[in-house]
Amino acid sequence: MSEDAVTGPMDDRIAATDSGRAIVLHPWIKSAPQSAQARSGARAPEDRLEEAVGLAAAIHLDIAHSAVVPVAGPKPGTLFGQGKVEEIKELVQLEEAGLVIIDGVVTPIQQRNLERAWKAKVLDRTGLILEIFGERAATREGTLQVELAHLMYQKSRLVRSWTHLERQRGGLGFVGGPGETQIEADRRHIQDRITKLENQLERVTRTRELHRKTRRRVPYPIVALVGYTNAGKSTLFNRLTSSGVLAEDMLFATLDPTMRALDMPGGQRVILSDTVGFISDLPTSLVAAFRATLEEVLEADLILHVRDISHPDTAAQRQDVHDVLRELGVDPQNTTRVVEVANKIDLMDAQARAVLDLTAAQDPNQLAVSAITGEGLGALSALVEARVTAHLTAIEIALGPQHAAARAWLHENCTVSGEDAADSDGIIRIRIKASSADIGRIAKLYPDLLPEAVAL
Ligand code: GTP
Repeated sequence: MSEDAVTGPMDDRIAATDSGRAIVLHPWIKSAPQSAQARSGARAPEDRLEEAVGLAAAIHLDIAHSAVVPVAGPKPGTLFGQGKVEEIKELVQLEEAGLVIIDGVVTPIQQRNLERAWKAKVLDRTGLILEIFGERAATREGTLQVELAHLMYQKSRLVRSWTHLERQRGGLGFVGGPGETQIEADRRHIQDRITKLENQLERVTRTRELHRKTRRRVPYPIVALVGYTNAGKSTLFNRLTSSGVLAEDMLFATLDPTMRALDMPGGQRVILSDTVGFISDLPTSLVAAFRATLEEVLEADLILHVRDISHPDTAAQRQDVHDVLRELGVDPQNTTRVVEVANKIDLMDAQARAVLDLTAAQDPNQLAVSAITGEGLGALSALVEARVTAHLTAIEIALGPQHAAARAWLHENCTVSGEDAADSDGIIRIRIKASSADIGRIAKLYPDLLPEAVAL
């Protein structure tokens, strides 16, 4: 088989830790139909480029150069016109870049031709997002989903170069056997791996269901931070978990690092969960992988939608996040489940700030904060606490010396908001916030406690 006969693109996976030099290009297709422009939220090409640079930086690439490249009519073979291809080649050499990221759709043939012309690896938007997912997938299921999406992507990228030799060998489309071409062998190999992964995924999904049930027994509400990439979720997460009281880690050793148990000012313990940032124009082939990395959101009792309110594209970003939430099966307009947090208010001018304060004052579902200065975070904690305890009943229970086991159980399984020292009769009064499920469990396990309990 001649080297030319079959060529996939260069190795598809770049090492996440590779701090290679990269060039980021946003092809601005001028002839794109109106509908495509509208779908992309009509964002300015410069903003889109900025987002792509941000995404590339997220996987630790050293961005040597970035540019918007106007494309009058996409060329089927190379996307860009010949002149542009040459120009970029010089740039690649000048910058000694090993990678060119093209923030758009690049066909396998275009990718192969451009890689040859530039002697650099080319990654399109899907490839870039896959790299990010690959790095962030925290769960076993997420990792498998990402690998699966990667393989599907690779499979679609195997390009046949139609040589004479291959035409002779091409056989009649039987898979395997002497007539099988290299490209067919590669496809089959990838398909085998895909089938294996799909089986593994099925098993993992089943186990996850079990785990979820176990975790559900951790009786604390889950609060998930979601939002567009760069909105400030991680900053907010760190700020809340460093200023708040972190619950002892022992119980939560099994939680992944993006989850922390946190005690709110009024005593309610919650589990705060950070998620991967949302990205616009997610290719449909990646939605499943994305979904797996976001599984915590589905379990959340309360979702905080963090927005970068200072960003010129903030309205379009909000829309994108709503679309993804809907795709996940969460209604973004459901105000008991989703609260909007306008972040980065420190970057707003006085006038914009006044308008925001006015809207926030009228809408109990909106809060204005700055994760950097800390402004508004007290109100945020209070709102979170009020929301997650809204359906709980506060009761006081009197525990006698014979109730040591019941007392331990209540501490372990309910939110205890206060407890008095034992009085002269050895009675301890304990105040808890209980859900109706908790009350049912107490009634069953310790039937003598509730008749004496007092509603607060
Ligand atoms: P992804 O991981 O891409 O989803 O981003 P993220 O939403 O977790 O954002 P992150 O917390 O990484 O913040 C992005 C950038 O915004 C960082 O440079 C932060 O320092 C900055 N930032 C976050 N919150 C604020 C804020 O309230 N004010 C200002 N001025 N900058 C902020």
